[in-house]
Amino acid sequence: MSRRILVTSALPYANGPTHLGHMTEVIQTDIWVRSQKLRGHECRYVCADDTHGTPIMLKAQAEGLTPEELIAAVGAERRRDFADFGIGFDNYYTTHSEENRAYTERIYRALQAGGHIVRRSVRQAYDEQAGMFLPDRYVRGGCPRCSAPDQYGDSCESCGATYTPADLIDPVSVVSGTAPVQRESEHVFFRLGDFEPLLREWTRSGALHQSAVNKLEEWFAAGLRDWDVSRDAPYFGFEIPDAPGKYFYVWLDAPIGYIASFAHLCAHSGLDFDEWWAPGSSTELHHFIGKDILYFHALFWPATLHGAGFRLPTAVHAHGFLTVNGQKMSKSRGTFVTARHYLELLPAEYFRYYLAAKLGGGLDDIDLNLEEFATRINAELVGKLVNIASRCAGLLQRGHGGRLAGALPDPALYAEFVAAGTRISAAYENCEYAAAMREIMGFADRANGYLDRHKPWLAAKDTARAGEVQAVCTQGLNLFRVLIGWLKPVLPRTAERAEAFLGAPLALWHELGTPLLDRTISAYQPLATRIDGAQVARLVAAPAAEVPAVEPPAAAPAESPAATIGIEDFQRLELRVGRIVAAAAVPGADRLLQLTVALGDGERRNVFAGIRAAYAPESLVGRMVVVVANLAPRRLRFGVSEAMVLAAAGPDGQPFLIAPDAGAEPGMQVR
Ligand code: MSP
Ligand code: ZN
Repeated sequence: MSRRILVTSALPYANGPTHLGHMTEVIQTDIWVRSQKLRGHECRYVCADDTHGTPIMLKAQAEGLTPEELIAAVGAERRRDFADFGIGFDNYYTTHSEENRAYTERIYRALQAGGHIVRRSVRQAYDEQAGMFLPDRYVRGGCPRCSAPDQYGDSCESCGATYTPADLIDPVSVVSGTAPVQRESEHVFFRLGDFEPLLREWTRSGALHQSAVNKLEEWFAAGLRDWDVSRDAPYFGFEIPDAPGKYFYVWLDAPIGYIASFAHLCAHSGLDFDEWWAPGSSTELHHFIGKDILYFHALFWPATLHGAGFRLPTAVHAHGFLTVNGQKMSKSRGTFVTARHYLELLPAEYFRYYLAAKLGGGLDDIDLNLEEFATRINAELVGKLVNIASRCAGLLQRGHGGRLAGALPDPALYAEFVAAGTRISAAYENCEYAAAMREIMGFADRANGYLDRHKPWLAAKDTARAGEVQAVCTQGLNLFRVLIGWLKPVLPRTAERAEAFLGAPLALWHELGTPLLDRTISAYQPLATRIDGAQVARLVAAPAAEVPAVEPPAAAPAESPAATIGIEDFQRLELRVGRIVAAAAVPGADRLLQLTVALGDGERRNVFAGIRAAYAPESLVGRMVVVVANLAPRRLRFGVSEAMVLAAAGPDGQPFLIAPDAGAEPGMQVR
């Protein structure tokens, strides 16, 4: 029976760039969603930016922006990052929306009507200079237990003690640097304890992985306390309707953002909201989150939903944290890798694959080990998987015009591959992606073993054995098609390219039951290429040195014959005329301009040239230059430089671009 499944990832805070930790979560979710779609289930995936709260308000202030401007800028970047990693959201929205305000107010009123909201006075640190109450993390001072200096207001990083800001020795506000005072204010609380029986029952319903259930048992044992859901102005968020000057705490309206994002999707797609959110709904609701926010999703959120008359989540899938070379991601250690930095160095799908190969269903952390990363990509994706296709497709193109045979020589082997689909799809369902990848690579080994036994490349030397070559390659390509089909949730773009050359788009896994026979495939396109460890190491290496404005001439050793070169040396240079068609400054690189150079016949090269000191980018568009067109591509921190633009160096190193005389055309050879 076809299931109807709504899926979410946690909503990233709109105050910073997307990093590989965020990517870990959305990729885990995206793989799950794509696998459900390939099984033929109706699956919708929504997410949004989490835009409210003190940190966002203060960050906007610091940057001289309104919070609305900050969240718009971060949101635009975020959407681009997620799209470039192939995340297939059905809707990506924002919590600062009218839908979210309306649902938040409605839910609050329902909780109030149910008697689950109470008010009482709270004493809290107040910054008189900044005129605001301070969240615990915005007060620092000495640890009351071990006296370690400069600790956060809620806990000590040195001895692990937990306390309140009032306990700190010589507390200081992070906002103004002054000593905070204690001030009273009335706050609004949600009585979480009212829902303990419900939460205990829900916990037993199979909604959580065992490792998460264990956490919840600890929290039940410690007792469920009332939850403070209000904050005083100034605050960026939604004002509480019956408490002017008070705002809903960001963590109340953030998960409601799941509902609001889905409501927005309904308005644009004709889906029926109530079928998905009314109590007793036959649809499923799955949340993917990190282990740090389990308390919010496994206690506050189901209680809020139930208290306000909505359905409960079917499952909350919590994952561990991504570490880099065994270290927590941290800016100071250089292990903080943004999504954009990764994309400048490596293909998105390599990270997707690596992650899938490491992800299980529990709370364990996931380590991005850079050496292992290169090895896995090269040995598994390129060496095992893609190799099958490239070997068979090449032979079939050369000897048979790309025509597949009319029957499989080993239908039993094919049937074994197809049959494993049940286990693989179950592994995806249980978020045991590592197990799925192991299984798939095991079958890739078997496909390679088949080819190694039949050696079609040897048979191809003997025209009498042409039929055998065609049959073996047909078998090989069909086994490959099953493998890449199983990998489609992980490698959607690679799979699409494979489908294009096989001429067989795959919408549903069950289509793999029928082999491709008696038809012509298109020319093979390379599906994945090797990477080298140095390239991967750049993910964390200190920023790359910039290219010098003009490369200093290599000093020739005194009596070396290399002081002159022969004509054949010169001829190895491919010098061509090009036209600059786009030029832009490179953020973070004072000396570089990024140029797009047209070389004739539609060919374009991306070039990073160290000429910013002498040329304004807009003055360059349209100019003719001379480029070294066969220089090996060079990876820089910002992208790949695919050629060199020639310039003469003035006495102080100032560059002078070399240009051909008027009338020269892009593409002309320079001899
Ligand atoms: N805004 C809240 C979530 C609200 S959901 C209603 C939040 N935002 S976050 O930007 O800090 O994190 C977003 C998600 O990314 C969370 O699920 C978090 O666990 C996850 N991750 C953040 N860093 C991570 C790693 N290093 N590794 C894996 N996931 C990580 O929390
Ligand atoms: Zn301490």
